Amino acid sequence: MALFTWKDEYLLGLEPLDFEHKDLFECINNLYEQCRIQTEGAEVEDCLGQLHVRLVAHFALEEKTMCEMKNPHYEAHKAEHDRFLEEVTEVVASFGTNPDEEHLEAFTIRVKEWILAHITTTDRQLVTRGR
Ligand SMILES: [Fe+2]
Ligand SMILES: [Fe+2]
Repeated sequence: MALFTWKDEYLLGLEPLDFEHKDLFECINNLYEQCRIQTEGAEVEDCLGQLHVRLVAHFALEEKTMCEMKNPHYEAHKAEHDRFLEEVTEVVASFGTNPDEEHLEAFTIRVKEWILAHITTTDRQLVTRGR
């Protein structure tokens, strides 16, 4: 069973960002699947690398969009991205030198929870009133 199920209530109505949010869900489901079937370290590492690259690209696009929309929460929102990216970068780097598959599932769940909470609260501020 997939870890994440996309729901249309997560849509912001900003197409490129919605597309990437769905893509991140898929990427995390893929990583979760790799944990469950206990694939080789190299494949897991590849999946982690993909997640990292997509997160970097997504945050960059979202921050650019916020700048263009002159969103007043830009600094706080970017700080959330930066803190999370630091955490992910550390896990990805340490997995490369010391693959620890036992903790990978917990990490995958942590990423899922962060993304879901972030999309439904902080990202939502991009399109809600009083922003
Ligand atoms: Fe965001
Ligand atoms: Fe986002």
